[in-house]
Amino acid sequence: MSTISSVMQETRVFPPSAETVGRAAVAGMAAYEALCKEAETDYAGYWARLAREHVVWKTPFTQSLDESNAPFYRWFADGSLNVSWNCLDRNLENGNADKTAIIFEADDGKATRVSYRELHLLVCRFANGLKSRGIGKGDRVVIYMPMSVEGVAAMQACARIGATHSVVFGGFSAKSLQERISDAGAVAVITADEQCRGGKTLGLKSVVDEALGMGGCESIKTMVVYRRTGADIPMQAGRDVFLDDLLAGQADTCEPEWVGAEHPLFLLYTSGSTGKPKGVQHSSGGYLLHAILTMKWTFDIKPEDVYWCTADIGWVTGHTYITYGPLACGATQIVFEGVPTWPDAGRFWQTIEKHGVSIFYTAPTAIRALIKASEVDPKVHPRNYSLSTLRLLGSVGEPINPEAWMWYYEQIGGSRCPIMDTFWQTETGGHMITPLPGVTPLVPGSCTLPFPGIQAAIVDETGHDVEWGKGGFLVVKKPWPSMIRTIYGDPERFKKSYYPEDLGGRLYLAGDGAMRDAKTGNFTIMGRIDDVLNVSGHRMGTMEIESALVANPLVAEAAVVGRPDDLTGEAICAFVVLKQARPSGDAAKLMVKQLQDWVAKEIGPIAKPKDIRFGDNLPKTRSGKIMRRLLRALAKGEEITQDVSTLENPAILEQLRQSA
Ligand code: WT7
Repeated sequence: MSTISSVMQETRVFPPSAETVGRAAVAGMAAYEALCKEAETDYAGYWARLAREHVVWKTPFTQSLDESNAPFYRWFADGSLNVSWNCLDRNLENGNADKTAIIFEADDGKATRVSYRELHLLVCRFANGLKSRGIGKGDRVVIYMPMSVEGVAAMQACARIGATHSVVFGGFSAKSLQERISDAGAVAVITADEQCRGGKTLGLKSVVDEALGMGGCESIKTMVVYRRTGADIPMQAGRDVFLDDLLAGQADTCEPEWVGAEHPLFLLYTSGSTGKPKGVQHSSGGYLLHAILTMKWTFDIKPEDVYWCTADIGWVTGHTYITYGPLACGATQIVFEGVPTWPDAGRFWQTIEKHGVSIFYTAPTAIRALIKASEVDPKVHPRNYSLSTLRLLGSVGEPINPEAWMWYYEQIGGSRCPIMDTFWQTETGGHMITPLPGVTPLVPGSCTLPFPGIQAAIVDETGHDVEWGKGGFLVVKKPWPSMIRTIYGDPERFKKSYYPEDLGGRLYLAGDGAMRDAKTGNFTIMGRIDDVLNVSGHRMGTMEIESALVANPLVAEAAVVGRPDDLTGEAICAFVVLKQARPSGDAAKLMVKQLQDWVAKEIGPIAKPKDIRFGDNLPKTRSGKIMRRLLRALAKGEEITQDVSTLENPAILEQLRQSA
């Protein structure tokens, strides 16, 4: 990949400024190394010290790491706490009661502010409301909400009563929602009448109704509906309740449910290499610790900051870096309902100016799209906005190519703000490999060095270390507090996916290829090693999309691969064999559109294949295995120079090439 070779040749280095070092929580390389050393000398003791310093416990823990049932690791297990108490009540006690917790920037540009006291009140009443419906500790609650104060409050309310939430991104289809509700055995869904995005409204409650109508969701007894637009929607008596009605008459305080540190705070479904999404289960204590620690060390959060993470609460970034981390640190943050390109592609920059944002965390795909937009329309170029309040930038979700990094650094950060290129995953709960502002010399395109205490390494297929300068599998050698605990309902799949026997069964396998710079040891992520694609920072399983395609009555067979794309990082390319004759010309175009819409309906618009090509067959070995590497070459438009001697039907390559 061009990105990787350009990163490996990258010679620009940006050391931290004296000012940044001066104010940072971890100040200077020596301080970083001291933390790493402490973790090396007494691993469990290091994390225990931090857990005591940064998390407020109801009952203190006496044990740190418990490896007795590895790889099902436990942390701080005999301690008890409540995550919502740590995010809200703690701030009332700390003198932050009247501080703005959330600035809600609505799609239409209207901004509203909520203080910690007000958020606490809303969450307490919400929690009491859920309890009044019989929902309590250990119940699973699915949240299908737009970006809103109420969405954050719904998550916090679940945490308060010990219910395990599972947020489903509002862009997922009824079918995807149904699968997640059913897998989680959820007792309630919290949703909204509609969501507003880019000046349009889209139904949400109607999608939930459709999902519940598909069957398999009989566990759902309650649907809470937040009135975002006030649209006229049907309500099912007994089951459905409007949020305002649920809140009416509830007490203003709610004693938190004190839970063990290992109590599951949330499930979040993500794509893996097989068809079925996996319910990644996170803990309460260890997860919260890392959310707080990374806010302080990576983002250098300070009381006067205005922090903005542009992710959606439907993704893990929105969990750790909107709902939990910033609130637990008493930060003021923006919750943004809209889209980056509406009313125009200057929306991000205008919003930074409007609210005086100082810390800004977004995704490379957004940066690339906005670079392009500002080239097309100079009016939305960041130079037209005052971005002088910014002091720190972040990037997440996919590798950031050095050109985009430089633009972000110069045009947005005014060559003054360090960029934290944070590598992590749904499963890791928080940052794993990232620069720290007061420590790390930045190299465009590299996520640099492990967070202190994280034992990231690169190994070969037998689990042995590879030397710096050579590529291999990215692993983590020791368990860490915010790691995934299991895959909900499928512990075997957890073991197989993350602790494979081939590597000895004791290394966490991230699923990415990576390499360390021979001199500095900086990490560069080279992309997934499994059948997972990264499209605009969203994780998509190729098998998931294939299953959706073959579920269409017209489709006989389908194979999905990724190809590099300038804007979205990777693009989805599907090779399809129809049950009917292979279409051409306008009929083919029509069929492409029909199948794209089908996938959008089955999974969600983010899973739509960009390219669909039709063939009479797929390239297969004599034993019937689809040769994906050939499909990847075709998708890229590359000449096939690889060995095709094991191919059963070599002529198919030419047909598929021409079908582009
Ligand atoms: C995959 C995880 C972490 C929240 C958003 C995505 C890729 C993530 C980076 C980065 C290079 C990155 C990896 C990873 N990824 N951040 N800074 N540099 N690649 O979470 O959906 O669980 O996806 O995203 O491939 O495995 P996710």
